[in-house]
Amino acid sequence: MEILAFGVQADEKPLIERAFAPHHPVRTLDVFLNTDTAPIAAGHEIISTSVNCDLGADVLSGLAAGGTRMVAQRSTGFNNVDLDVAARLGITVARVSSYSPYSVAEFAWTLAMAVNRRIVRASTRTRDFDFRLDGLMGRDLHGRTAGILGTGKIGEAFARIAHGFGMRLLGWDAAENPACRELGLTYVPKEELLAESDLVSLHVPLLPETRHLIDATALKSMRDDAILVNSSRGGLVDTAALVDELRAGRFTGVGLDVYEAEAGLFFLDKSLEAVDDDTLARLVTFPNVLVTSHQAYYTADAVTQIVSTTLDNVLDYIAGRRSGNVLVPRS
Ligand SMILES: NC(=O)c1ccc[n+]([C@@H]2O[C@H](COP(=O)([O-])OP(=O)(O)OC[C@H]3O[C@@H](n4cnc5c(N)ncnc54)[C@H](O)[C@@H]3O)[C@@H](O)[C@H]2O)c1
Repeated sequence: MEILAFGVQADEKPLIERAFAPHHPVRTLDVFLNTDTAPIAAGHEIISTSVNCDLGADVLSGLAAGGTRMVAQRSTGFNNVDLDVAARLGITVARVSSYSPYSVAEFAWTLAMAVNRRIVRASTRTRDFDFRLDGLMGRDLHGRTAGILGTGKIGEAFARIAHGFGMRLLGWDAAENPACRELGLTYVPKEELLAESDLVSLHVPLLPETRHLIDATALKSMRDDAILVNSSRGGLVDTAALVDELRAGRFTGVGLDVYEAEAGLFFLDKSLEAVDDDTLARLVTFPNVLVTSHQAYYTADAVTQIVSTTLDNVLDYIAGRRSGNVLVPRS
C-alpha cells in the first residue's frame, strides 16, 4: 500500500523514505494539503500531513470521497485538523504526541537571546565592517524573571534552561507540573505572570480557549521592556494588537517562530512575489522583532523521532492497534 506524504521538506524526504522503505512504499510531495491538492490523495487509504496542511471540513470530505481512511499528522499540534468532521467521516487521525521538547525549547531560547543581544543586527553590521556597539546593548537575564505560559514538556525544558541562567521562574498552566515546581517555579495567575516577567514564553497549545491568549489587554499588562517569544502557535497572539504595541515603541524584543496567518507563507519561497500580508510586512520592519518560519522543531533529532513515530502510527493503524497518538476515533 503506497503512503502519500504532503508538505515534506527537502531534508525530511530521505528520512521518510529510509524509514518507510522496509514496510511500505511512500511518495513524498512538497506541496501542502489543501482544497486544490486534496484530489492528489485519491486512491490512497493512508496519507501523512504536516502543520500547515489544511484538514478542515472541505478537505476531509474530499479525502473521504477519494478513499482516504487514515491521516498520520507529523506534528504534536493538531489545530489544523477538524477532528469532529474526521470522526463523522470515519477517518482515523493520529499525531506525534511527543518528540524532543529540547528542539523547540532550545529554539525559543535562541530567539530570546538573539533579540535580547541584538544578534541579527550585529551580524549584519560586521559583514559591512561596521564595528560600532551603538544600539546593541542587551540585558543580563541572570536574576530576572522568566514567565512560562504552558509548563508541559516544552515549557519544562524551557524552564530548565531558564533555571540554568539563574532566572526567577513564574508559570501559568491549567495543570501544574511537579518537575517545574522542583526547579523553583511558582504558579501564578496569568495577569501576575505578564506584569512581572522580563521574558514571556508561550508553550500552550492553540485551542478555542487559548486563541489570542496574548491579546491587546495582555500585551498592555506586560512590562515595556519585556521580551516576548512565541514558538507554539501563531494564533496564541493577536498580531495586529502586537504591531500596535511595537509601533508605540514597546518591548525589548519579540521573537516569533509562528504567525497566525502563516499557512500559505511559511515553508515556501515568496521572495519574488508581492507580499499581500500587511501585518507580517509591518512586523518584520521593527528592529526589535525577529520572525522565523516555524523551524523550532527542525533538528535532525526531532525530525527523526517524528518520522519514526509517524511510521509506528501507520503500522498500528494497519494492524488495528490503538496507541496514545490516536486522536480519532476518540477512545
Ligand atoms: N514551533 C514548533 O516547531 C513547535 C513544535 C512542537 C510543538 N509546538 C507547540 O508547542 C505546544 C506545546 O507542546 P508540548 O509538547 O509542551 O505540549 P504539552 O501537552 O506537553 O504541554 C502543553 C501544556 O499546556 C497546558 N494547557 C493546555 N491547555 C491549556 C489551557 N487552556 N490553559 C492553560 N494551560 C493549558 C497543558 O496543561 C500542558 O501543561 C504544542 O501544542 C504546539 O502548539 C511548536
